Amino acid sequence: VDGPLLDTRGRPLRDLRISVTDRCNFRCGYCMPKQVFDKHHQFLPSSALLSFEEITRLARVFVGLGVEKLRITGGEPTLRRGLEDLLAMLAPLRTPDGRALDLTLTTNGSTLVRKAAGLKAAGLNRLTVSLDGLDDAVFQRMNDVGFPVADVLDGIAAALAAGLGPIKVNMVVQRGVNDDQILPMARHFRENYGGGVVLRFIEFMDVGTTNGWRMDQVLPSREVQRRIAAEFPLVPLSAQAPGETAERWAYADGSGEVGFISSVTQAFCGDCNRARLSTEGRLYTCLFASRGHDLRSLLRGAEPVDDGQLASTIAAVWSGRDDRYSQLRGSTEAAAERRVEMHYIGG
Ligand code: GTP
Ligand code: 5AD
Ligand code: SF4
Ligand code: SF4
Repeated sequence: VDGPLLDTRGRPLRDLRISVTDRCNFRCGYCMPKQVFDKHHQFLPSSALLSFEEITRLARVFVGLGVEKLRITGGEPTLRRGLEDLLAMLAPLRTPDGRALDLTLTTNGSTLVRKAAGLKAAGLNRLTVSLDGLDDAVFQRMNDVGFPVADVLDGIAAALAAGLGPIKVNMVVQRGVNDDQILPMARHFRENYGGGVVLRFIEFMDVGTTNGWRMDQVLPSREVQRRIAAEFPLVPLSAQAPGETAERWAYADGSGEVGFISSVTQAFCGDCNRARLSTEGRLYTCLFASRGHDLRSLLRGAEPVDDGQLASTIAAVWSGRDDRYSQLRGSTEAAAERRVEMHYIGG
């Protein structure tokens, strides 16, 4: 390829998000509602999952096409057996000009007390923890499996102690469900970690088809920010990297920063550089895509393909990409198709 690989809207491929399991030990209503993901739900059999060798091979090809950041997601990625081995295989990958990758992971934090040190030792650079409130009644209603806040906070502490900081904490905000947790969360994370934790508020999104999304449950980031700024004055920060999901603000008193991820009210498709690899090896060019491109069948087919053929297949998919779901949201074009589920494709 001459020059960076660009899609039809001129966007490069920089970020690959790899889902390593479709399972999770939580049942957050906005992602895997209990009524749908109950004991009758069929998760993928292990033969369907990409092996660590397959993931690493694909990741190497993606890196050759311009990817600089790998994010491991799920479901809950730390439930995948041997995840540390996968990290150790991905950590040595280098960009064509010899730079190390940004290797990161998104977790619900439930296993970090046990696993943080091992993840770091395997080569993980940093991580993002999801936490939707500080009040146990609210948080347990949201994770819907009675998981206590204290265990996630202990996990965050363990990750910081293991050298995985600064850590990002993601809070999905649902109006009337956990919006009373916005200020307690802001206060807790600005006061207790010396800037080692960056809290980010995510607008409740209409991903998948099972979470009963309604616009009236979305609390626009502008309102979240107004509530925080009323208590703790904020000053805007400029973006760190192109295609960044979060708008960043600093506390005026110097006690760290917060971010707002506003996929619903301020779409950020314009410079979206993210590709997603599903648990079973499908390539999705948008979080809201209805179809993926099956890469696993290329890896496992009767006719073996070499890395060059994999690269040209992926390059062709990316070159043809014109996704911008969040910008089109609400239009008939966007509403027409069944969308992939978040727990299957990762955040
Ligand atoms: P870093 O800032 O480098 O840590 O990465 P990030 O912001 O891409 O990471 P993270 O996985 O924490 O993403 C945060 C949340 O933003 C995800 O859980 C999703 O809810 C949302 N998100 C991430 N990427 C996209 C995207 O491409 N489109 C939309 N609509 N939402 C996204
Ligand atoms: N809206 C917004 N964020 C979501 N996440 C999962 N489902 C949704 C949704 N419907 C977030 C989780 C986690 C990441 C994996 O994706 O909170 O931070
Ligand atoms: Fe599990 Fe994360 Fe989905 Fe919650 S949002 S059910 S923790 S994958
Ligand atoms: Fe990228 Fe699709 Fe999200 Fe837009 S909606 S930012 S194109 S993943």
